[in-house]
Amino acid sequence: MKIGIIGTGNVGSAVAFELLHRKWMGEIVLLDTDTAKSEGEMQDLTDAGKELNPFVRIKSTSYKDLKKSDYVIISAGLPRKAEQTMDSLERINTPIMMNICESIYDYCYDSKIIVVTNPAEKMKLIAKKYFTKVAIPDYKLDKMRYLHYKNWKLVKNVGQRILELKGYTNWAVATAIVSMIFNGIDDSEW
Ligand SMILES: NC(=O)c1ccc[n+]([C@@H]2O[C@H](COP(=O)([O-])OP(=O)(O)OC[C@H]3O[C@@H](n4cnc5c(N)ncnc54)[C@H](O)[C@@H]3O)[C@@H](O)[C@H]2O)c1
Repeated sequence: MKIGIIGTGNVGSAVAFELLHRKWMGEIVLLDTDTAKSEGEMQDLTDAGKELNPFVRIKSTSYKDLKKSDYVIISAGLPRKAEQTMDSLERINTPIMMNICESIYDYCYDSKIIVVTNPAEKMKLIAKKYFTKVAIPDYKLDKMRYLHYKNWKLVKNVGQRILELKGYTNWAVATAIVSMIFNGIDDSEW
């Protein structure tokens, strides 16, 4: 299996780390406009992989390396700050998402795309103009949070609360994404 991750920040690097905890063979391709960051993550994760899963190779080179990826996770763009509205984030992340879709289309037109970048529903609509199989992790994440809070109203506020406390969210969303890949999601969600 081949999995691409575009945007190796808090979410992208957590997804890669979580992937190394699963039993599979193949390749993870890490890409970021900050090439020093993606290269550093590649080296750090490769070292972790020697203990966690030596059957997964990690690369960080160019969009071409995404060719024939089974999954591409798009976690690139600006993260929302606790006080920021989704509307203002949409204005910033829309051109980033369009640019990424255009850049990867030739290599990944048949891949399953998991859009993480916020606002995820809006970014999914952009990706849908290019790709047929596009999903977001938000539903799976909400279901996971519900197991903890048992109250949908609290579930809707928990992301905001974590942003206020630690400035970003990453572990639960990364786990949701990896679960979507390994445990599958309803076909209707693609
Ligand atoms: N859907 C969800 O449930 C959910 C949960 C958490 C975070 N998010 C969203 O995911 C996104 C990433 O969050 P984060 O905390 O990892 O942010 P981050 O700032 O830590 O990482 C974002 C990375 O994207 C890179 N980047 C920016 N433009 C790029 C481009 N054109 N191509 C490649 N890389 C690019 C940056 O260099 C950075 O490394 C944000 O939009 C955030 O709001 C969504």
